[in-house]
Amino acid sequence: MKVAVLGYGTVGVGVYEMLREAKGLEAGPVLVRPGKDNEPFKVTDMAAITGDPSVGAVAEVMGGVEPAFSYAMAALKAGKHFVTSNKALVAAKGVELNRTARENGVSFLFSAACGGGVPILHNLARAAETDEILSVGGILNGTTNYMLDQMQSKGMDYAEALKQAQELGYAEADPTADVTGLDALRKIMLACAVAWGVLPKSGLLNEGIDSFTAADVNDIAARGRVCRLVASGKRAPDGRISAYVEPVLVRVGDAESAVQKNFNMARYEGKCAGSIALIGQGAGRYPTASAVLRDLSGICVGEAAMFPADCVEGEADNASESHAYYVRLPKACAGALPVAEVLSDGEELRVLTKEISVKQMHEIASSLRADGRAVFFAAMRG
Ligand SMILES: NC(=O)c1ccc[n+]([C@@H]2O[C@H](COP(=O)([O-])OP(=O)(O)OC[C@H]3O[C@@H](n4cnc5c(N)ncnc54)[C@H](OP(=O)(O)O)[C@@H]3O)[C@@H](O)[C@H]2O)c1
Repeated sequence: MKVAVLGYGTVGVGVYEMLREAKGLEAGPVLVRPGKDNEPFKVTDMAAITGDPSVGAVAEVMGGVEPAFSYAMAALKAGKHFVTSNKALVAAKGVELNRTARENGVSFLFSAACGGGVPILHNLARAAETDEILSVGGILNGTTNYMLDQMQSKGMDYAEALKQAQELGYAEADPTADVTGLDALRKIMLACAVAWGVLPKSGLLNEGIDSFTAADVNDIAARGRVCRLVASGKRAPDGRISAYVEPVLVRVGDAESAVQKNFNMARYEGKCAGSIALIGQGAGRYPTASAVLRDLSGICVGEAAMFPADCVEGEADNASESHAYYVRLPKACAGALPVAEVLSDGEELRVLTKEISVKQMHEIASSLRADGRAVFFAAMRG
């Protein structure tokens, strides 16, 4: 199958190189911006791809919602299979792409959009066909895991850890989506849709690591804990779906505490299968390209979809999920929280809360911050 590639950046170059070596696949034209078509295989007009009957599949690795969405729709309507690494595209338009692919009898796969090289969605999609998926989640953002690891194992401060993540190519020039948890949130949205056929588009909550400081590191370490940024998705027995991202204090020795550097640990729990966790490279040229190639070779053996046929957009409900939190906040604000224990006193307090809903905790932090207060919070595990 001849594959056209949209975008020739970090992932695009890897996909093109791997296609040239892959069994059963052939490297086709590569779409680049006008003026960048400096090699014979590069084209600048999407119509040259949709109108080429020898192209069987399109791999989109450009990023962003537009023009990626228009190009995806054009490819699907032209009868080309469509594979993407673009979580922003699938989180925004996945339901429509799934429907259009099915109407046109072609495949729509996006393994690389969640977990990079870690084949979580591929496995989850197959498991969801025969097992009841109870929860999905894990460490889904390598940039923030790298930063947290450097801060906690090397004593770096936040700015230094971010600078190093950027120098190593893990963080974008604009790292906002990573450090605020938005990138991980988009990934958990996709995992929810694969697991339960509902792509949650509202009611979502994301707390990142941008409030985490070296002082927090010391205090947490003294309590035998490690901070990780964890995405969670769950379906309650009544069908409501929760989906959120927040820092979690795991115990030293818990599986997440061993996930170092820019690695991901993606997991799901099946009613019959139990808990499955996959650890590996969540980003980078070749790990991500390998996930794109895995989808393409899956298409060659009939793999068609990750979202179920009746997948719809829906709402997340994070009011019924609850746990205790570790919180640093100004002493004057302690009344905002149901405090179970004061861990350390001073101008700033460190407290453990009673069990409260995820929605309530995120709302309290955001209203305190709206008043200019500095707050860090993390869920307590175990
Ligand atoms: N990098 C990773 O490790 C990784 C991991 C998992 C998923 N992803 C996802 O994979 C996608 C690509 O990421 P990346 O890191 O490869 O980004 P990148 O290095 O910025 O590459 C994107 C490429 O697409 C080109 N492009 C953008 N819009 C275009 C257009 N309209 N027409 C033609 N070319 C266009 C860009 O050209 P210009 O440079 O001229 O703008 C650039 O060469 C994103 O959706 C990202 O979220 C990346």
